[in-house]
Amino acid sequence: MKSTNTVWHHATVTRDRRAELNKHKSVILWFTGLSGAGKSTLAHAVEEELYQRGYHTFVLDGDNVRHGLCGDLGFSDKDREENIRRVGEVSKLFVEAGVIVLTAFISPFKADRDKVRSLAPDDFVEIFCECPLEVCEDRDVKGLYKKARAGVIPEFTGISSPYEEPENPELTINTGTASLEDCAKQVLDYLVERGIYQESE
Ligand code: ADX
Repeated sequence: MKSTNTVWHHATVTRDRRAELNKHKSVILWFTGLSGAGKSTLAHAVEEELYQRGYHTFVLDGDNVRHGLCGDLGFSDKDREENIRRVGEVSKLFVEAGVIVLTAFISPFKADRDKVRSLAPDDFVEIFCECPLEVCEDRDVKGLYKKARAGVIPEFTGISSPYEEPENPELTINTGTASLEDCAKQVLDYLVERGIYQESE
């Protein structure tokens, strides 16, 4: 989608120059998985490590973004699609701004995640937080599964709305059984491999 009669203005402060100033590259770490799988917890744990090493980071989280930017959206397939589209565009701006952006959205539909990937193909790292529905439901941190089972919340992911598992994610993290520290280390190890993060000497 593109507005009419608009012309792209090129910045002199480019992404490369920002990376030089920041002393690190930027990337989109896209965490996907069921509600309660631990996406936000893991994203924040990875962010904490990066922050402590002086990296510029920001977490975009489903529940938070739905208080503002996406406050007008619900949980129909169409609204979820629009939610992910907006977050994808915002993530692209963050990555242009030189920031390592970590997103924590259920993002249940493969096509929507793929669209975000196509916005920033070289910068999109899909991280599947793999956690069985039974475990998420058992945790039920927000009490939403109970309400979904009771029919109080309609179209709830995993119960009455689908979750399409990623087929070829860059990373699959077993957030059902592995410790938070272990999960965060797997993400950080990947960032070392990609040349985005350097471990301390
Ligand atoms: S997404 O499907 O559009 O990616 P998003 O990550 O923004 O979802 O929001 C998910 C969060 O909204 C859940 O963690 C939960 O707290 C809350 N929520 C409220 N209603 C629903 C619902 N019907 N399905 C899933 N999550 C819901």
